[in-house]
Amino acid sequence: MLAITMLKGTKIAIIGLGKIGGALASSLVRNRIVSKENLLGTTGHRDSALEAAKRYGIKAVTDNVRAVADAQIVILAVKPQTMKRVLTEIKEAIREDQLVITLAAARTTRFIEEMLQKAIPVVRAMPNTPCLVNAGMTVLCPGRYATKEHLEIAREIFASVGLVAVIDNEELMDAVTALSGSGPAYAYIMIEALAEGGVKVGLPRSLSTMLAAQSLLGAAKMVLETGEHPAKLKDEVTTPAGVTIDGIMALEDGGIRVTLIKTVDRATEKSKELSQ
Ligand SMILES: NC(=O)c1ccc[n+]([C@@H]2O[C@H](COP(=O)([O-])OP(=O)(O)OC[C@H]3O[C@@H](n4cnc5c(N)ncnc54)[C@H](OP(=O)(O)O)[C@@H]3O)[C@@H](O)[C@H]2O)c1
Repeated sequence: MLAITMLKGTKIAIIGLGKIGGALASSLVRNRIVSKENLLGTTGHRDSALEAAKRYGIKAVTDNVRAVADAQIVILAVKPQTMKRVLTEIKEAIREDQLVITLAAARTTRFIEEMLQKAIPVVRAMPNTPCLVNAGMTVLCPGRYATKEHLEIAREIFASVGLVAVIDNEELMDAVTALSGSGPAYAYIMIEALAEGGVKVGLPRSLSTMLAAQSLLGAAKMVLETGEHPAKLKDEVTTPAGVTIDGIMALEDGGIRVTLIKTVDRATEKSKELSQ
């Protein structure tokens, strides 16, 4: 993890302390990137604010204007369909010396800038829920008024909870959303299905789930840490006339490759559709 220096003492407001906002809040506190006192979250309802405060151990309210007024960094983590309402609400309170980081799928930096009607630095981020266990993947993209420095601040925030990549072409954010934003869901299905396979051939379910999950985790680490092509790593496991090739044959028979390619393709189309 990066040594965090820029964020010390910085006040951050997380608008929308739900699954991803909450995961980010608790990770920032747990990793001592931001102190509890400097983090304020909001939700749409008083009950959920109380619950979020308890669950994530930070102060949570329902007053977005108050939260924004006090912060230097504003993280927008509400649902895409709630974004317009929230931006209208905070428009007056937001200042050009603040940094807005938006996590919403299918909401462009241009959309946010135009809604706020100010030259606000906006960085769009697409994280995923494994941020909760410091194994997140976040892709960042700068808006019109965001400088390299703003991008670095956003990078520091998300580098504390996983890997970070930066892209310039915002059009690719739909593909990013479909691949790494939604990716954990696809992986859970793979783990679940592999575990069912283990159960089918006699393994206890808990052991089977552990074997499946750790195998995916280990394979992912091999790809990231060796830098080798996945096909080469697969070949190394596949002994001629051995066990693995029979498993691979069943995978190919089920069309796993084309299924996964279509998965990302369809999800990208959906993200584009929602961006309209
Ligand atoms: N989940 C993911 O893996 C993931 C990954 C990357 C990006 N994202 C993006 O992150 C955003 C949030 O997703 P999520 O899955 O975390 O949704 P979520 O769990 O439903 O959280 C949404 C949060 O927004 C709050 N909220 C609703 N109306 C509000 C308002 N007017 N002011 C302040 N807060 C309000 C909700 O509070 P109440 O419960 O009181 O309504 C809730 O705490 C989405 O735009 C999504 O595209 C999600």
